[in-house]
Amino acid sequence: MNKQTIVADTIDMVKEKLNNEGSGHDWYHIERVWKMASKLAAKEQANSYIVELAALLHDLIDDKLVSSKDEAVQEVEYWLEGAGVSSSDSERIMDIIQTISFKGGNGRKLTTLEAQIVQDADRLDAIGAIGIARCFTYAGSKGDVIFNPELSVRESMTEKEYREGPSSAVHHFYEKLLKLKDLMNTETAKQIAEERHAFMEDFLIQFFNEWEG
Ligand code: ADP
Ligand code: NI
Repeated sequence: MNKQTIVADTIDMVKEKLNNEGSGHDWYHIERVWKMASKLAAKEQANSYIVELAALLHDLIDDKLVSSKDEAVQEVEYWLEGAGVSSSDSERIMDIIQTISFKGGNGRKLTTLEAQIVQDADRLDAIGAIGIARCFTYAGSKGDVIFNPELSVRESMTEKEYREGPSSAVHHFYEKLLKLKDLMNTETAKQIAEERHAFMEDFLIQFFNEWEG
């Protein structure tokens, strides 16, 4: 099986799977991460085949989307085998998708360039105009308000508190989004993050101007 066919088949499978996803992990999130990751891979001279497959599959084992993570991991492994991916490539891909998410990553620096790239691409999609849109969509789906001035910003919290505790979309900027710029791994992503970060800061200035009337 050639690599192009494997990537194309994976696109079809992921598209089908994430068809009706409403929490910001829809196919278009995956498509943006995949395209950004491909671009970063070219600039950073990484293995683009590994990067592309890991980007396409990165959210299929997210515990926000699946009821059993172990089963989801097995399903993806099974898919790769069936698609004709060699077992050593499959191992590299599975390793990336299991370690990149910020929650699962535990702040541990990723060791391979390919993993760093997929993580950067995923994080870039959480900032800038798209990141703002995703934040409000996610907050809405969780029942959070746009902003609640009575809540404080939680600087450090457990994953459960972060996920379930009372918050607001605007709080999420301070709890996570504004920190992402400094967490980028690659030089290329750092550059792209600058502009997106500045846009979020402008957004917040305008937001609070309007809030205060
Ligand atoms: P990923 O795409 O890396 O899996 P997450 O699952 O952590 O990202 O979050 C998906 C999107 O929802 C991101 O844009 C993120 O910023 C946003 N998000 C996550 N948690 C919250 C929250 N508590 N409030 C608002 N937005 C959130
Ligand atoms: Ni993602």
